[in-house]
Amino acid sequence: MQIAVLKERRPGENRVAASPDTVKKFLAAGAKVAVEAGAGAGSHYSDAMYTDAGATIAPTAAAAAGSADMVFKIQKPMTAAEGTDEVSYLKSGSILVAQLYALTSKDLMQALAKQGVTSFALELMPRISRAQAMDILSSQSNLAGYKAVVDAAATFGRAMPMMMTAAGTIAPARVLIFGAGVAGLQAIATAKRMGAVVYATDVRYATKEQVESLGGKFIVVDEEKMKAAQTAGGYAKEMDDDFKQKQAEAVAAEVLKSDILITTALIPGRPAPNLVTAAMVASMKPGSVIVDLAAEAGGNVEGTVKDQVVATANGVTILGYTNTSSRLARDASMLFSKNILNFVTPMIEKGTGALKINWDDELVKGTLVTKDGQVVHAGLTG
Ligand code: NAI
Repeated sequence: MQIAVLKERRPGENRVAASPDTVKKFLAAGAKVAVEAGAGAGSHYSDAMYTDAGATIAPTAAAAAGSADMVFKIQKPMTAAEGTDEVSYLKSGSILVAQLYALTSKDLMQALAKQGVTSFALELMPRISRAQAMDILSSQSNLAGYKAVVDAAATFGRAMPMMMTAAGTIAPARVLIFGAGVAGLQAIATAKRMGAVVYATDVRYATKEQVESLGGKFIVVDEEKMKAAQTAGGYAKEMDDDFKQKQAEAVAAEVLKSDILITTALIPGRPAPNLVTAAMVASMKPGSVIVDLAAEAGGNVEGTVKDQVVATANGVTILGYTNTSSRLARDASMLFSKNILNFVTPMIEKGTGALKINWDDELVKGTLVTKDGQVVHAGLTG
């Protein structure tokens, strides 16, 4: 089996879908790997590191993908309308493995089907224990949660920990985290390590214990409703207006006292919930910092501008960066590559190195979006 690793072309994307380490492991499993020249540059993996690992370097994307049975990418392929027709590089009968944003990219999925490509959308990986090592949403959100706190601390004009000095005592920063999922829990852990006092809110009651185990203080809104707020898949449900009102009242008092807000709240398939109103932002002290990790999905904060740093009239800075994990490209690429390795290795037959996919496997079925010229995922066909 021949694998191709393509260079990412979307602006701001520094990651790469295979590391020299995973290349070695694919070769050991019997596959061959071609890496497009410069594919690892944004993650500080040189072409020489890939050749040392045993890959060949292809001069262009077309050359890399032209003879590949399987193509790895981070981001969904670009279309001609976006500047480069990356779908045209993929040969009919080949397999694409990437974060496809499949459920919101219907036209692209049709184009992949028409091209004869079998595609696996990694963001659709079922969230079961067996799939944890293949879960790109977790591996990347974890890094984003860490980076959000580092960004906040770097922007904040004061120290994070309490410091007792001869010249006086500095109070610890007060940090409030919205959403205690993968990113939020890492943000809590990071802010605690930096010495901040950390509060958190979530709609899922199950997160209370997780927050407290990391040393955070959990803001309970309505225990009964919170106990019913989790889907079978572990995600949050959209809450009713009564809950939203109570939550807003409960957090408003805490926002007022906070120096830093990190917002990570998401509801799958819906715009991000608006949790921090303009009035709450206006109530914050000058010099406060907000990092809105939900900016990509519309933001949790009124006033967030995607990919921009906003300075409000009362001296609050709102960071609306998207694709935060790409700003830690080396680690993000290493983990994303491992997620792909763990997903694809069972598809390679031991001994022969041939491609052998178990189409009945729950993880294969859950992520499969196009096959045999058709869009096949229930989320797009139903
Ligand atoms: P996510 O990125 O969809 O959402 C982030 C957080 O925002 C969640 O904790 C959610 O409850 C919270 N949220 C939504 N609406 C809110 C609101 N109005 N106010 C406050 N908070 C709100 O979720 P993520 O981080 O992807 O993880 C969700 C769950 O999935 C986790 O609790 C985890 O247990 C589970 N999971 C399971 C995995 C596996 O078994 N393979 C892997 C990763 C996560």
